[in-house]
Amino acid sequence: MLALGQYLILLEVNDMERSGTEALKRKYDRVARYYDLVDLMISKRLRQRVIHSAEGQVLEVGVGTGINLPLYPPDCAVTGIDISPGMLARARKRAQALDLSVELAEGDVQNLEYADQSFDTVVATCVFCTVPDPIMGLKEVRRVCKTGGKILLLEHVRSENRILGALMDLVNPVVVWALGDNINRRTVDAVEEAGIHITELEDAMGSIMKIITAQP
Ligand SMILES: C[S@@+](CC[C@H](N)C(=O)[O-])C[C@H]1O[C@@H](n2cnc3c(N)ncnc32)[C@H](O)[C@@H]1O
Repeated sequence: MLALGQYLILLEVNDMERSGTEALKRKYDRVARYYDLVDLMISKRLRQRVIHSAEGQVLEVGVGTGINLPLYPPDCAVTGIDISPGMLARARKRAQALDLSVELAEGDVQNLEYADQSFDTVVATCVFCTVPDPIMGLKEVRRVCKTGGKILLLEHVRSENRILGALMDLVNPVVVWALGDNINRRTVDAVEEAGIHITELEDAMGSIMKIITAQP
């Protein structure tokens, strides 16, 4: 099933532009209808480990098809943004079935329209592997999160194993072409470079996935 989804995505995506927010937006608009199959790669349990500690006014950046929405504690008020209207349309359908306060809007994490310190929690899952300028996006996350608030990230990163890391570098252009997703980013370093203070760093799925709990 997963292989079929990925094959359909490969057939759909013929845009060879690899960078730039507009190209990425078109890419995700095209893959949106198959994206639930791609999402199967990350278990609900792993997502729950990240989302369960969200509280208050929450901003989820790169909300995608809204796969995390059913996992929020019911007293959260969630604003979800994404560059892709196609992904957001699916998130809207998902949100309708929930007893949760959800607002969804088109937006670019590299240039958020919210005032400084607007949110108690900022969440992103598998987003900074795609954002063209991840450090600019992470600086925006830091800016809109309240002092003392939480930044909760689930991101896959380049392997620290020399051979696997080199293999990821080799395969990366194909994955970027197919899914707009970089598999070899050093996102933990990017988080620190953006001035975000990491309070807890956990490995998942070996050490390829990182659960990052942080403060602005
Ligand atoms: C790999 S998908 C992950 C979706 C979802 N967070 C999940 O866990 O399944 C990356 C998402 O980030 C969005 N995205 C990429 N660049 C973005 C940006 N600059 N601002 C907001 N969303 C962005 C894409 O449109 C896509 O929905």
